[in-house]
Amino acid sequence: MTATSPDKPLLRALQGETPSVPPIWLMRQAGRYLPEYRELRAQAGSFLDLCFTPDFATEVTLQPIRRYGLDGAILFSDILVIPYALGQPLWFEQGVGPKLEALDGPDALDRVLDPARLHEVLAPVYTTLRRVTAELPPDVTMLGFAGAPWTVATYMVEGGTSKDFATVKRWAFGDPDSFQRLIDQLVDSTSRYLNAQIEAGAEAVQIFDTWAGSLPAAAQERWCVDPIRRIVAAVKAEHPNTPVIAFPKGAGPLYTRYAAQTGADGLSVDASLPLDWIRTQLQGTVTVQGNLDPQQLVVGGPGMRAAIRDICAQLGNGPFIFNLGHGVVPQTPPEHVAELVATVRGETTT
Ligand code: CP3
Repeated sequence: MTATSPDKPLLRALQGETPSVPPIWLMRQAGRYLPEYRELRAQAGSFLDLCFTPDFATEVTLQPIRRYGLDGAILFSDILVIPYALGQPLWFEQGVGPKLEALDGPDALDRVLDPARLHEVLAPVYTTLRRVTAELPPDVTMLGFAGAPWTVATYMVEGGTSKDFATVKRWAFGDPDSFQRLIDQLVDSTSRYLNAQIEAGAEAVQIFDTWAGSLPAAAQERWCVDPIRRIVAAVKAEHPNTPVIAFPKGAGPLYTRYAAQTGADGLSVDASLPLDWIRTQLQGTVTVQGNLDPQQLVVGGPGMRAAIRDICAQLGNGPFIFNLGHGVVPQTPPEHVAELVATVRGETTT
C-alpha cells in the first residue's frame, strides 16, 4: 500500500488537486548534461552496468534531487530493460544509442522471449527503488516507469532506434495476429514490472509511449491506447491508489482518447499541443504534465522564462505538474535547469 502522504505536492497533483505552486520534475533529469552523472557513468563501465548496479543507480537517481530540489525522483533505468529481461540481447553503443538483436518475426517470439526470469533479472532495479525511497526527502515523490508496449516493440523489432518504423509496421500491419502476441507479452511483463516497482517503493508510475505518434489513428487505438489501458487496469487491480501517468508522445488530438479510455490519472503532454487545447480538452479529465520544449531549456534566457510563465499561467489553475515536452537533452546547461525550477516556483523576477 502506498499511503498518500499529504506533504507530497506531486502526488497531490496526481490525485486531482491544484497545488498553489506547480510541482516539477523533468523527464531525463538524470543524465549526460550533469557532470556528476558523466563521472559515475565513466566509473560504471557500460550503461547497463549503471542501471543494474544499485549503488550507482541510486546515486544517479538522487543527483538531480540534490542539485535542484525537484518534487519527483524518477528511478534511473531504461525502458529497454524489459526486452533484456525477456532474454533479448541488448547493448548501448556510445554515440549511437541502444542496439538489440532484432526479433525477426513471429517465430522469434517463442525462441527468444521468456518471461520466467523477469523479476530475477530486474531484482537490482527493485533494490535501487528501496534504497532511493529510504534516502528521499519526505516531500519528494518516488516515480517508477516503464516503456509502453508499442514503443518497446519498435526497438525490439527494428533492433534499435528507427526513423520510419518500416520493419515493425510491416509486421503490425501485415500480420496483426502474431504482432498482438508480442504486444500481449509486453502488456503482461510491463504490468508485473510496474507492480513490483510499486511494491519496492514507487509512489506513482509513468508509461513512456515515445513513438505513439508514428501510428495512424486506428492502429494507435489498437497498439497504444488499448495496451496502456490494460496495463493501467493491471496496476490498479493490485495498487488502486497508485497514480499512473501516460506519455503518448505525438498523439495530437488522440490525446483525448488516452484521457477518456486508458484510466491513467495523468497525461504527459508533448510541446506541440496548444496550451488552451490542453486546458479545455484534457485538464478536466486528467492531471496534465508538461510541456516546455527541451530546446527552449537549452537556449535559456528571457525566452525560456516567458515560455515557462505562459505554461504556468495557462495550466496552473487546474491539476498540473510542470515538466518538459520530452526528455532533457545532453547539450542542456545545468544552470538553465536551476533557473527553470526557480521560475516555476516564482523565484525569478526578470
Ligand atoms: O528520466 C530519467 O532521468 C530516468 C532515466 C531514463 C533513461 N531512459 C536513461 C537513459 C528514462 C525514463 C529513459 C526512458 C527511455 N529510454 C525512453 C522513453 C523516453 C524518451 O526519452 O523518449 C526511450 C525511447 C529510451 C531508449 C533509449 N535509451 C535511447 C533511445 C537511448 C539513447 C539515446 C540517448 O539519449 O542516449 C537510451 C540511453 C539512455 N537512457 C541514456 C540515459 C541516461 C544515455 C546513456 C548514456 O549515458 O550513455
